[in-house]
Amino acid sequence: MTVMNSFLDIHKTDPEALRGMIANARAMKDARGGRPKGEPDDEQPLKGRMVALIFEKPSTRTRISFDVGVRQMGGQTMVLSGADMQLGHGETIADTARVLSRYVDLIMIRTFEEQTLLEMADYADVPVINGLTNRTHPCQIMADVMTYEEHRGPIAGKKVVWSGDGNNVFASFAHAAGQFGFDLTFTGPETLDPEKAWLEFAASKGHPVTIDRNPERAVDGADLVVTDTWVSMHDPQSARERRHNQLRPYQVNDHLMGLAKPDALFMHCLPAHRDDEATSSVMDGPHSVIFDEAENRLHAQKAVMRWCLGV
Ligand code: CP
Ligand code: NVA
Repeated sequence: MTVMNSFLDIHKTDPEALRGMIANARAMKDARGGRPKGEPDDEQPLKGRMVALIFEKPSTRTRISFDVGVRQMGGQTMVLSGADMQLGHGETIADTARVLSRYVDLIMIRTFEEQTLLEMADYADVPVINGLTNRTHPCQIMADVMTYEEHRGPIAGKKVVWSGDGNNVFASFAHAAGQFGFDLTFTGPETLDPEKAWLEFAASKGHPVTIDRNPERAVDGADLVVTDTWVSMHDPQSARERRHNQLRPYQVNDHLMGLAKPDALFMHCLPAHRDDEATSSVMDGPHSVIFDEAENRLHAQKAVMRWCLGV
């Protein structure tokens, strides 16, 4: 039987499947045992498979971790810029999806509008992976859950505090709170609150997101403190100054981290604007696991791709 699972979002994926992917990612990471990055895995589940990686926005981690991950598993990749494809010049997403499906076995796309991703998945005959949209970033949070658990054990029941913009990365944390069963607090200005739908999802799973405008109170007892850029790729540059002014009180600095649990972890999906949303002292300090997160994008996405293809 041909398996065809698209990985569109954490809230759209069965919790058991999500758990399975984290376990598989851990197992594959362990099995590599730190060998050189270009050396293939013992198992070659993507042998003979071709994967298209489409980017309509810039990327360092997503682009390289998917590319390396496919190669380690024996597959081949094509890294494509949306602007260089006919997609960027008026060809419909539906036609692009149907054409790509004749050439490749799996599509990963980073795009602006969620609708582009959904249409790609609707019309493609091969699985589609969400590599970030304006609304969500599920692959990142799979890596983040894996990273938390590597350092501190099960994330279920832990207190995770997001300080800053209620953006696409927060959205996937809210989905993960519902699916993995942790307590999520959002602290940020009301003007940059997360979408209600994301909060409703977590609440519907019995893990309502707490909203606290006071960052110092919010981080009290936190097991994990997370932030992200104050201006995302889809935000207009004209909003930069206003956002900075609104978000400055939510900067993650030594004072704020000091109010979390003594063994709290600090995460940031990167790229960061050092000394804006988080100080270098926190990013490079004892709580920080930001580069483990970046590495785990590779392992987590390998597991996501295997699940998509059932291999
Ligand atoms: N965190 C993340 O997705 O990074 P890139 O934008 O570099 O892919
Ligand atoms: N919120 C950021 C995440 C980048 C990985 C953005 O969308 O630009």
